[in-house]
Amino acid sequence: MFYAADWLDKILPGDCRDILPTLPEASVDLIVTSPPYADQRQHTYGGVRPDDYVDWFLPIAAELKRVLKPEGSFVLNIKERVVDGERHTYVLELIVALRKQGWLWTEEYIWHKRNSYPGKWPNRFRDAWERCLHFTKQKNFAMYQDAVRVPMGDWSQSRLRNLSDTDKRRDNSRVQSGFGKKIENWVGRELAYPDNVLHMATECANRNHSAAFPIELPSWFIKLFTQPNDIVLDPFIGSGTTAEAAIQLGRHYVGIELDAGYIQVAAERINAVTVQPQLLVVQEESELYDIVGVGELDTPKLG
Ligand SMILES: C[S@@+](CC[C@H](N)C(=O)[O-])C[C@H]1O[C@@H](n2cnc3c(N)ncnc32)[C@H](O)[C@@H]1O
Repeated sequence: MFYAADWLDKILPGDCRDILPTLPEASVDLIVTSPPYADQRQHTYGGVRPDDYVDWFLPIAAELKRVLKPEGSFVLNIKERVVDGERHTYVLELIVALRKQGWLWTEEYIWHKRNSYPGKWPNRFRDAWERCLHFTKQKNFAMYQDAVRVPMGDWSQSRLRNLSDTDKRRDNSRVQSGFGKKIENWVGRELAYPDNVLHMATECANRNHSAAFPIELPSWFIKLFTQPNDIVLDPFIGSGTTAEAAIQLGRHYVGIELDAGYIQVAAERINAVTVQPQLLVVQEESELYDIVGVGELDTPKLG
C-alpha cells in the first residue's frame, strides 16, 4: 500500500490496472487522460481490440471512480476509429456502460484540431476532432468557470452599443427550456464564457510520443475543474503532458505509465518545468454573471 508521499507528484511505472488499486479512495480531484486507442497503435504501445475495448476499460473506470473525490471530474479524451469502412461503436458503447457503472455523462467537449493533416478518403474527409467526455460522480461537482473565460471579441462592440428594449429585460427562452438572457448584463464586460468546442492545434514539437495531446488540453480542464494544490491523475500519462500542465498550474499530479521509454521522456519534461505564478489564481464562487444567458450570446444576431 502507498502512503501519500509514495504516490503524489510521481509517475508510477506499470500497468494502471495494477497500480490504481493501490491509490487511496476519494483522493484525487480530477482525472484527465487519453487512453490507448483501440488496436490502432499496437506496435507503438499495446492497443486493445475495438470489440474488447469496453470490457478492457470498465474495471479501470471502476478504480477511477473509487479514487475520485465525490465532487471530482473525469475527462476522457477518445475518438472511435474506423473499422471496415465505418466508425466502430465502442466509444458509444463505453459511454452507456460507464453510465451503468454509476457515472454521470455530464458533458461532451469537442477538441477541434486546428492543424489536422490534409487528407481525403473515398468515403470521408480528414479527422479533425476528438471527444473529451466529461463524467462526474454526482450532479454537484467542482467547476470554476471563470478560470476559462475568453475575450468577448469585436462583435460585442457593435452588438452592445445600441440595445433594444428586449436586450434590457430578461428574455426567457421561447421553447420553455428555462434558459434566458439579458443582453444588457454584458455591457462593459471584457470576458465571456467559452463554448464546449476547444480549438487547439495538435502538438507539433517532438515529444517522442506518437499520441501526445497538446498541453493546452489538460491545462484547460485543470483550470476548469480544480484549484491550486488539488490533485490531478492521468492513468495513461505517456510523455507526461498532464503532469507538466499540473505543475505549471500549481496542482499536484499522479501519473501512471506502462512504457519505460515514455516514463523517461516524462521525467525529463517534469524536471524542466516550472510553476507559472501568474496562473495560480484561486477562483471565487461564480460572481455576478448571468451564466444561463451566455450560450445564446455566443452566436449573436447582429443588427
Ligand atoms: C494515448 S497515449 C497518452 C499520451 C499522453 N496523453 C501524452 O500527452 O503523452 C496512451 C499511453 O498509455 C500507455 N498505456 C497503455 N496501456 C497502459 C496501461 N495498462 N497502464 C498504463 N499505461 C498504459 C501507453 O504506453 C501510452 O503512452
